[in-house]
Amino acid sequence: MKPLTVIISHTFVCKLAPVFLLVSTALSAPEILRNVNNNNFTTQQNDENFNSTKHIPSLNISHLNWQILDKLSFEDGVALENYKAPYDIPKRYMYYLGGYNHENLPIWIIKGSEWDIVEGVRKAQTAELEIYFMQMAQRFIKSIPARSTPDNPVTKAVFLVDFADLQYRQVIHLPTVTFATGMLSAAAHLIEKYVGGAYVVNANFATRILVNIVRPFLEGIFSKVFVYGNDKAIWMPEILKVFPKNSIPAWYGGEKGYKPVEVYG
Ligand SMILES: *[C@@H]1O[C@H](CO)[C@@H](O)[C@H](O)[C@H]1NC(C)=O
Ligand SMILES: *[C@@H]1O[C@H](CO)[C@@H](O)[C@H](O)[C@H]1NC(C)=O
Ligand SMILES: *[C@@H]1O[C@H](CO)[C@@H](O)[C@H](O)[C@H]1NC(C)=O
Repeated sequence: MKPLTVIISHTFVCKLAPVFLLVSTALSAPEILRNVNNNNFTTQQNDENFNSTKHIPSLNISHLNWQILDKLSFEDGVALENYKAPYDIPKRYMYYLGGYNHENLPIWIIKGSEWDIVEGVRKAQTAELEIYFMQMAQRFIKSIPARSTPDNPVTKAVFLVDFADLQYRQVIHLPTVTFATGMLSAAAHLIEKYVGGAYVVNANFATRILVNIVRPFLEGIFSKVFVYGNDKAIWMPEILKVFPKNSIPAWYGGEKGYKPVEVYG
């Protein structure tokens, strides 16, 4: 399976970070991305929102926790958005905004089997990983209102998670299971509040073990979690009932030449 083409490279995002920050109140993320793709940011730099001496808040992790993640102060929110995880974490744990479903819920896509959480735990990177996952959750939450209207309010996001070739060693490493279930437990209220559905494809034996491990932490949404095995002929028609073809990559049944809206990693 070919990895997804990353439309914004990491360094590109880094270079633009101050501009992103300062316009973030004025533009929604897809607009920023469209402008980036059009090389249209000189107008932003020259506009009155741009102030190169404006204070960029630094991250104070003692202000962060899963309980209040969706209620952070403006400064803490900006600081979390601006967080640059070390150890190549973004490249190791990628996620992307694929598009929007028929009800305008944002669709976030994750290749779950490529997230080697065991490696992060073994290398004692859990503190940074947890901040990174909080930042990711913050992006999920912030993406929700993008296409919301007063008549058709959007309050949740949907997820497509691919566990192709998940390895058994990933789900039996006890410190990793403890770390992951600890986070899930702390984030359970956010999951219940903001997850409108999760579609798991290419679930193998290891994935089924994983699903049984996390089941108690996802009680509130389990009726909205759909787990499909490796048989593309079975899951693809089901996926296509829920996800428009222009919102998912071709290998899930989407259009050829598909481009995600935003890629993180
Ligand atoms: C460039 O960005 C500005 C500010 O967001 C916007 O008003 C303008 O329409 C954009 N121009 C193009 C050609 O996309
Ligand atoms: C730019 O930001 C600094 C620090 O926040 C502030 O003192 C200054 O007045 C701002 N300048 C403009 C033009 O907004
Ligand atoms: C972080 O926040 C705590 C509580 O508000 C404060 O006591 C501490 O000084 C802050 N640390 C930094 C480095 O700003």
